[in-house]
Amino acid sequence: MDAREMKIKAAEAALAHVESGMRLGIGTGSTAEEFVRLLAEKVAGGFRVEGVPTSERTARLCVELGVPLKSLDELPALDLTIDGADEVDQALRLIKGGGGALLREKIVAAASERMIVIADESKLVETLGAFALPIEVNPFGLVSTRIAIDKVAARLGLSGELTLRQSGDGEFTTDGGHHIIDASFGRIPDAEALSSELNSIPGVVEHGLFINMAALAIIAGPAGARTLQK
Ligand code: A5P
Repeated sequence: MDAREMKIKAAEAALAHVESGMRLGIGTGSTAEEFVRLLAEKVAGGFRVEGVPTSERTARLCVELGVPLKSLDELPALDLTIDGADEVDQALRLIKGGGGALLREKIVAAASERMIVIADESKLVETLGAFALPIEVNPFGLVSTRIAIDKVAARLGLSGELTLRQSGDGEFTTDGGHHIIDASFGRIPDAEALSSELNSIPGVVEHGLFINMAALAIIAGPAGARTLQK
């Protein structure tokens, strides 16, 4: 089974948690897109959902496939969000933001009663951090923000490159008009401490550590999908 087939398996298992009439947060990334494709087939068959997309990219796919969308302001309280992740640990802490949608993903997940993460087994890790942590930053004062992130990292005994994400011939810009710094810490032994320290930096809009947000992870491997629960 290749990685795409595993993503489809995880997405199929997540679909079983979706009931007709639900208000649904819809994630971003290749795994979430497999979920959108399966959801669209059900919608075409008469299944009723209202989705809130976590990115313009997801919104475009939903529109193309006929999944009904609302804005988060129209549906401020959601039943369930289904989203992918770049890393998942056994405590269901996540690194997200590889696709650059972490801010809307976090806002949507926080507005949901429940978040289910879907991933292939390559995303399951012992300790978060091998995947560079995406940190969404305001373009104003980028150098100062970088220095502040370096100081926080040093205080927590972390070190690694901070790379301003690029796209085409310039800096990558998120749907919210911000930039992303990818922090290659290697290993993040205390994700909670790093999360609250990063949140205290004014130029940091949000970061990709999702802690206490996912209620369930559906991890697919060659033998099928299994669930991890807190
Ligand atoms: C988008 O910003 C990310 O948080 C994605 O959820 C994450 O990068 C997973 O994407 P894939 O499913 O493509 O690996």
